[in-house]
Amino acid sequence: MTCPSIVLHNGVKMPQVGLGMWKTESGDVAVNSLQWAVEAGYRHIDTAAAYGNESSVGQGLKGVKVPREEIFVTTKLWNADHGYDKALEAFEKSRAALGVDYVDLYLIHWPGPNKQSYLDSWRALEKLYEEKKVRAIGLSNFNQHHIEDILAVCKVRPMVNQIEVHPQNTQAPLRQYCKEQNIAVTGWSPLGQGNLLQHPVLVKIAEKHKRTTAQVIIRWFIQSGMIVIPKSVNKDRIVANFDVFNFTLDEEDVKHVESINENKRFGPDPDDFFMV
Ligand code: A2P
Repeated sequence: MTCPSIVLHNGVKMPQVGLGMWKTESGDVAVNSLQWAVEAGYRHIDTAAAYGNESSVGQGLKGVKVPREEIFVTTKLWNADHGYDKALEAFEKSRAALGVDYVDLYLIHWPGPNKQSYLDSWRALEKLYEEKKVRAIGLSNFNQHHIEDILAVCKVRPMVNQIEVHPQNTQAPLRQYCKEQNIAVTGWSPLGQGNLLQHPVLVKIAEKHKRTTAQVIIRWFIQSGMIVIPKSVNKDRIVANFDVFNFTLDEEDVKHVESINENKRFGPDPDDFFMV
C-alpha cells in the first residue's frame, strides 16, 4: 500500500495523504494519533503554530521508528506573527517546538491582516528557504488575488496553497489557477469536518465500492491531483483513511462527487479572517 507523492515545482516530493492535526488536542492524544498514523504508513504530518500541538508532534516524531527524513512535516506561520522579523522568530519557535533541524514545508497560514504583512512574511519565508531551514514554502487560504500579489514580487515562487476543499466546496477556479501557476493544492477539512460523511450521494458511491464515505472522499482528492490531510484522533479511522490506494473511482463517480458542490465553507472566508 503505497501513498503517491506530488512533486513540487522545486522537485521536493510531498506525500498526497497526510494526517491533519487541526483540532487535535496536544499531549497524549496528538502523540498517539501521530504514532498510529506513522505505523499505518502515513509519511506526512500537517500542523501549525496556531494548533498548539507542535511540541506534541515533536514528541511523536521522536518516538517513531521511521527516520526523520522520511516524514514530511508541514507547519504554518500564525497571523499574529506576520512581518519579516516576526516571521523569522516565529519559525524558530516552531522549529524548536517540533524539535527538528528543518521543516519540510512552511506556510503563511492566512493572508490577513493586509497585503504588506503577507509580502513581508513571504520575504522571511524566502530567506528560510535560501538558508535550507525549510525544503519548501507556500501559502494557505490565499485566494487568487492574494497569490497574484506574491507572484508579482517574489524571488521564490510558492510551491503549495493549502485551502478548504471538499466535495461541497470543490474550489475549481482557484485550483485551476494554482495549476496554471504550478502551485500544488492541499485540501483542508476534506471531510467537511465530518459533516459530509452522511451525504446520500457520497454514501451511494461508498456502497458501490464497499468502502467508507471518508475513503471515497479521500480517493477523490488523490485522483484529482491534490494533497489531502484528513484529521482523526481515532486509531481505526486513522488506519481506514489511509487504506485508499487499492480502489479507483470511475468518471461517473467523480462527476457525482463533484455534483454536490455548493461553494459551501465550514471554515472562515480568507477575505475577512483577521483573527490574531
Ligand atoms: P475523529 O478525530 O474523532 O476521528 P476534517 O478532516 O474534514 O476536518 O474532518 C475531521 C472530522 O471527521 C473529525 O471530527 C474526525 O473525528 C472525523 N473523522 C475523521 N475520519 C473519519 C472517518 N473515517 N469516519 C468518521 N469520522 C471521521
